[in-house]
Amino acid sequence: MKTILQTLNGTPISPPPIWLMRQAGRHLEEYLNLRSRADTFLDFCYSPDMAVEATLQPIRRYGMDAAILFSDILVIPDALGQRVSFVPGQGPQLAPLNGRASIKQLDPTNLHDHLAPVYESIRRLKTLLPEATALIGFAGAPWTVATYMIEGGGSKDCQKTRTYAYEATDDFQVLIDLLVETTAAYLIRQADEGAEVIQVFDSWAGVLPPIQFDAWVIRPFQKIVAAVKAAHPGLPIIGFPRGAGLGYATFAAQTGVDAVSLDSTVPLAWAAKNVQPNAVIQGNLDNLILRAGGHQLKAAVGEILTTFSAKPFIFNLGHGVLPDTPVAHVEQLLDMVRGG
Ligand code: CP3
Repeated sequence: MKTILQTLNGTPISPPPIWLMRQAGRHLEEYLNLRSRADTFLDFCYSPDMAVEATLQPIRRYGMDAAILFSDILVIPDALGQRVSFVPGQGPQLAPLNGRASIKQLDPTNLHDHLAPVYESIRRLKTLLPEATALIGFAGAPWTVATYMIEGGGSKDCQKTRTYAYEATDDFQVLIDLLVETTAAYLIRQADEGAEVIQVFDSWAGVLPPIQFDAWVIRPFQKIVAAVKAAHPGLPIIGFPRGAGLGYATFAAQTGVDAVSLDSTVPLAWAAKNVQPNAVIQGNLDNLILRAGGHQLKAAVGEILTTFSAKPFIFNLGHGVLPDTPVAHVEQLLDMVRGG
């Protein structure tokens, strides 16, 4: 069985499987070459030729244990009819939602037609990936996707979204429910086409106080996990509530996910005690240590391996690979984890 699937089924493996969030992308010169051939980032995501090639690049170069489908979490707002664009150097920009009428205009009718190129990419990857490499499908979690839809892009602390959730709670709930439904449907289709693991990214989970964390992170996750597992009972699901702090323990205990991806601020011993009993741990090397390299990289990797490896564990970063990360550092990391 593929190492990641074995791990997610509860068997510890030594050395542990490894893949990296954003393993495809701008730290690879072959990605930059490919990217220069598409007009816009969304064109790139919706071109099966390019998305498949970008997915395969880090597998060819590094032999990671898993490939993550090349796409973006913002294809869901795009498929719902909200205007989404990626401005080079500035990140994503969306025509921000502003109130009930704009939420009502979101239309899931053409969801699967719109996302058909993503499903085509998955079908092709199934025939192209090496036998030992697992294919991970993914989506953004409702809270995080909602923050981009309401802020109109990235933001430091999601103030507009938090304010909207306090002041127009019923309307915000309508948006979250729509995202729960469409995200679950999208993930089920990814699994129908052959995704073997699903990761759900909640990159802005960390800005919420406990009561709102429960309402906008835990509950939507519970619903998505239940819906996906009803359609695909054995499919492992990894949740990434980035920045959740102590909330990681609740998240692991209450959402029904099989694994939890830790950001790099989570103390290792605390996670081994409070998260690992309820979920496989994935993580959590600081992406800046990977970029910096050297003796600190070696020490940090050693500590993570020592703390987590007795139980099922997947090595990863605490957030995505940064654009100017040297390829040599990623190669050194793989050697360290695999005992080379
Ligand atoms: O290798 C992989 O991890 C697969 C591809 C992937 C991308 N985005 C490609 C991408 C994945 C899994 C994502 C998820 C994603 N997208 C998240 C959740 C994870 C996280 O990083 O917190 C979020 C919040 C987004 C939204 C998004 N997309 C932002 C904020 C940006 C701009 C900032 C940035 O890093 O460039 C993007 C664009 C994006 N998504 C790029 C890539 C490779 C860069 C686009 C380019 O090539 O110009």
